[in-house]
Amino acid sequence: MSSTPDQIRVSYDISNAFFRLWLDERMHYTSAVFLSPEQTLEAAQAHKSELLYRFAELSPDKSVLDIGCGWGANLEYLVARGVRKAHGITLSPAQAEEIEARALPGVQVWVADYALFEPTEPYDALISIEMVDHLVSPAQARNGEAVDRYRAYFSRVAEWVSPGACFGFQAILRNRVPRNRKDLLDLQFTADVIFPGGLNPRLEELVAAVNPHWEIVELHTRREDYGRTTGEWLRRLRSHEAEIRQRWGDQVFDDYDRYLSTCVRAFASHWASDVQMKLRRI
Ligand SMILES: C[S@@+](CC[C@H](N)C(=O)[O-])C[C@H]1O[C@@H](n2cnc3c(N)ncnc32)[C@H](O)[C@@H]1O
Repeated sequence: MSSTPDQIRVSYDISNAFFRLWLDERMHYTSAVFLSPEQTLEAAQAHKSELLYRFAELSPDKSVLDIGCGWGANLEYLVARGVRKAHGITLSPAQAEEIEARALPGVQVWVADYALFEPTEPYDALISIEMVDHLVSPAQARNGEAVDRYRAYFSRVAEWVSPGACFGFQAILRNRVPRNRKDLLDLQFTADVIFPGGLNPRLEELVAAVNPHWEIVELHTRREDYGRTTGEWLRRLRSHEAEIRQRWGDQVFDDYDRYLSTCVRAFASHWASDVQMKLRRI
């Protein structure tokens, strides 16, 4: 594991009420995919889940595991779409509590590290949305361990499905490095304070690491979509500034304002991007 359970709590366990204020109502904490400039964030998040449903080749009779399921927004979409069994794992106890409180038929969640999780039966398909950025620390990447660590992940999860099964996969990416000191410090702040222990992968690392278990059937980058998503999160955060300062303190508001402002610039400037892949188990 790279991000430890304590580091995960820093990123996700401030308070479910805090995240609900500025994410969408279902609490997707990953890039939406917009069909038009007018589309709402809520509709674009549902569209993102629909694309992953199709990549995973799901249908009502099937079972799926969502690896790094957050507060369960995608699981909720899947069962509303008729999927019989939609299971999830997360390292965050607060996220698991939220999913259990939603009491959705067909949904089950475990607080578990993917590297230790032992499914009791094989799944028909897998989905994972922006979880692999927790698998490799900056120090491990500097040591040249990134591709091996991502490959260990793709190899382990391949054991949970049969050959021919599909995997709807999404990841945030790191691309270009900014040139000025303030931008570098803002990115460093985001990594150290908001997502300690993690590092966004490079697309070429993921493409190398799916071998030899997964074939890439489709690949789409979503940089502009993530820029719009984080822009909308920032707008909503600011619209609740007084309440956030009062309930969670000035530091929380200022940190999240700095982090989301940095994200908007990161996607606009090509420092970061996002990828969706349809993978098929070889
Ligand atoms: C950015 S959140 C994305 C949540 C969700 N997929 C979504 O779309 O909103 C990353 C998720 O990965 C989970 N995670 C990180 N490392 C993990 C690990 N080693 N095993 C299982 N889940 C992990 C976190 O607990 C969190 O739920």
